[in-house]
Amino acid sequence: MTSRIASESLRAKIMNAQDAAALITNGMTVGMSGFTGSGYPKAVPLALAAGIEAEHAAERPFQIRVWTGASTGPELDGALAKADGIEFRLPYNSDPIAREKINSGRMDYFDMHLSQVAPMAWQGFLGPLDVAVVEVSGIRADGSLIPSSSVGNNKTWLDRASKVIVEVNRWQNAALEGMHDIYYGTALPPSRVPIPLTRSDDRIGEPCFRCDPNKIVAVVETDTPDRNLPFTPPDDAARAIAGHILEFLRHEVAVGRLPAALLPIQSGVGNIANAVLTGLVDSPFHDLTAYTEVIQDGMLDLLDAGRLRMASATAFSLSPEAAARLNADMGRYRDRMILRPQEISNHPELIRRLGCIAMNGLIEADIYGAVNSTHVMGSRIQNGIGGSGDFARNAYISIFMTPSTAKGGKISAIVPQASHVDHISQDVQVLVTEQGLADLRGLSPKQRAALIIKNCAHPDYRPMLADYFARARVGSYGQQSPSLPAEALSWHQRFMETGSMLS
Ligand code: COA
Repeated sequence: MTSRIASESLRAKIMNAQDAAALITNGMTVGMSGFTGSGYPKAVPLALAAGIEAEHAAERPFQIRVWTGASTGPELDGALAKADGIEFRLPYNSDPIAREKINSGRMDYFDMHLSQVAPMAWQGFLGPLDVAVVEVSGIRADGSLIPSSSVGNNKTWLDRASKVIVEVNRWQNAALEGMHDIYYGTALPPSRVPIPLTRSDDRIGEPCFRCDPNKIVAVVETDTPDRNLPFTPPDDAARAIAGHILEFLRHEVAVGRLPAALLPIQSGVGNIANAVLTGLVDSPFHDLTAYTEVIQDGMLDLLDAGRLRMASATAFSLSPEAAARLNADMGRYRDRMILRPQEISNHPELIRRLGCIAMNGLIEADIYGAVNSTHVMGSRIQNGIGGSGDFARNAYISIFMTPSTAKGGKISAIVPQASHVDHISQDVQVLVTEQGLADLRGLSPKQRAALIIKNCAHPDYRPMLADYFARARVGSYGQQSPSLPAEALSWHQRFMETGSMLS
C-alpha cells in the first residue's frame, strides 16, 4: 500500500477514518471530492456519519455544510443525509435519501450551474471552506496528488480549504496517472485571461493537484470501489429518440451545417442520454470527439467501436460492468480520455468556442419549448440543473430529449406551461420525444407551439394541447406567446389531485 503514497512526510500523517473524521466538527463547511458515483471519499464520510449519529443520540447538535463536484455515492450523501448531518448542500444531488430530506424541508439545497461552483467559491460569498476531503489514487514523492476517477471541484477545494484530509484509494487504477489535465489559470476578473484550449484534446494544465503539505492533516487509506448505478437497457422509446436524433444529425451534415465528423458531443446524465450514445455506435459517423461532463457506458462503447476518437470530461459515470471494462484496459483508454476540473469541462467560453452539440434530458417542456429539468410539479426537486445550463446556453446546437409521457402515461412531458423553468425557450433549439423531433431554430413562439404539439406530444395528450393552444389563440391577453394563465398549470393541479393529467 505504501507504494501509493510516495511522500514520506505525508506517510507520517496516515491515520484511520474515525480519527480523521473527528477533525470535522459541528457547523463546519466541508468540500468533498466526487462527481456522480466516481472519486468521492468513501471512509471519512461514513465515519463522520457514525459520529454525527452518536452526537445526536446524546442530544447534541451536529450538522455540516457539504460542497461537492456533483452527486456522489451512498457512503457520502446517503450516509450523511440518513444521519441528518447535512444542514446545507451544493451544487447537485441525486441521492434518494438526501432528495427526500430536501423535499420535506429538512435540508437546504443550492442547486446551481456546475461551471459556476469554483468561481463562486473564490468570490467568497459562500463562506469559508473549513475542510477538504478529497479522494486521490496516489501521492507522488513531491507531495502532489494524483486524481482519481473524477476531478470535479477538487482543485478549488484543495486551494481554498484551511485543512485537507486525503483518502488514497487503492481500488482506483494506478494507470489513471497521466489522464488528468488540471488547469491553474482561472483567476477571477479583472486578472482573468482567455483559457488556451482550442480543441477537445488539448492539454493545458498539469497531471496532478498541487497541495500545500502543511495543510494536509490526515491521510486515510482505502480500498473501496466507486459505486455507480447500472444503466437501464434502452427501451423502445429510448431507441426511437436516438433514431430521431441520428436522423437529424445526418440531415445537418447533408445540408452542410455540420462537418462529417460532427462537432464535439456533450451528452447529459440519465438513461436516455446513454441510449443516444449507444445509438451512435451503429451510425455512419466516424472520428467523433466528445467535450462533455461525464463519460458514460455509451462513450466507452463508442471508443471501442472506433467511432469516437477522444473524450474530454470531468468524471466517469460508468455502470459497474463498464467500470470493470475500463479498469481492465486502462492503459489503452488513457490516451483517448482527458479528465479536467468541472470549471473547464463545463466552461461557457470553451463550449461556445468548440461548438458543442448538447444533448440533455428533461422533466417537462412546454408548448413554446421552455424546459424544466429539475422540479416535478414545479416544487419537488428530482436532481438539479447540473451542467445542462452550462451547455444548453452555449452549445452550437442545443437538443433536449424525453419520453413523451412519464409515470405510465399519467403525466405528459409536453405541457401548456412548464411548472418551473431551467432553460428558457431561446436555449432550446431542438426538442425530441419518441414521437418525433421538433427543430425549433428560427421559429416564432406560435410556430414552435404548433410543431411541438404535432411532432413531440403523445397522442393521448395531443388533442388536449391543440385545444388549449387554439383557445389561447383566441382568448389570450397578447398574441406573441398565447396563454391562458388560469388554465396553464391546471394539468399539474389535476395530477396532484387525481394522480393523472388525463382526468
Ligand atoms: N413528471 C414526473 N416525474 C418525471 C417526469 C415528469 N414529467 N419526467 C421524468 N420523471 C421521473 C421519471 O419517472 C423517473 O423517476 P423514477 O426514478 O422514480 O422512475 C426520473 O424522473 C428519471 O427519469 P427518466 O425518464 O428515467 O430519465 P433520465 O434518467 O434520462 O433523467 C432527468 C431525466 C431530467 C431527471 C435527468 O436528465 C436530469 O437530472 N437532468 C438534469 C441535469 C442534467 O441535465 N445534467 C446533464 C448535464 S451535463
